[in-house]
Amino acid sequence: MPEPSPLLVLRDAAKLYAGVGVPVHALRGVTLDILPGEFVAIMGPSGSGKSTLLSVLGCLTTLSSGSYVLDGEDVSTASRNRLADVRNRKVGFVFQQFNLLPRLDATANVEVPLVYAGVPPADRRRRSLAALEGLGMAHRARHLPNELSGGEQQRVAIARALCGEPRVLLADEPTGNLDSQVGADVMSIFDGLRARGVTILMVTHDEEKARHADRIVRVRDGVLE
Ligand SMILES: Nc1ncnc2c1ncn2[C@@H]1O[C@H](COP(=O)(O)OP(=O)(O)OP(=O)(O)O)[C@@H](O)[C@H]1O
Ligand SMILES: [Mg+2]
Repeated sequence: MPEPSPLLVLRDAAKLYAGVGVPVHALRGVTLDILPGEFVAIMGPSGSGKSTLLSVLGCLTTLSSGSYVLDGEDVSTASRNRLADVRNRKVGFVFQQFNLLPRLDATANVEVPLVYAGVPPADRRRRSLAALEGLGMAHRARHLPNELSGGEQQRVAIARALCGEPRVLLADEPTGNLDSQVGADVMSIFDGLRARGVTILMVTHDEEKARHADRIVRVRDGVLE
């Protein structure tokens, strides 16, 4: 069988943060292909560029130089609007800090990306509840984030990331704020997603969690080892 073509194609990617302080070369020539259905762990020391790499791959930010094609769409020189559009259609994010909106209940939080995608309200509600149910969270659908445990908040965040059926799920230390048992539960959710063919990129500091992935990519000083 021929190799499937890669879903994410990153070539000589460089990212310079110019900002107000000293300029930082966060990525200095990263080339990376990710196949559809791959589960890839990204590891490396603090400050090595892992979150920057994830932001680029997730269309949260553009490159200073190099090229990036996501699912056939060249976003290397995309405008802010186009980047947001590609991100909404193709990417789901999970963060260490969950990043749920505090005034919205679980169902409404999960619906947020669908609001941006222009999905009609009744459809949104149905998909949100199905996503929550799939993660064992149906019984907490009306709870606000501060009425949920950390593990439950992360399940809501995963439901939110998945309910738009993205091409790729990006997770930046998704278990970093969870105790080891709850972290293990989140990893079994990822195992299940991988088995369903979801493409996953996960930043982690934990070698044991990285072993759930098909492959480990190591970043050091803005380059891959
Ligand atoms: N918005 C920004 N402006 C300026 N510099 C930044 C910005 N974001 C990150 N950096 C710098 O870029 C480098 C890479 O940061 P990044 O967040 O990608 O590291 P990381 O590998 O995710 O680290 P950690 O494991 O601590 O999360 C660091 O030196 C950081 O200080
Ligand atoms: Mg980081």
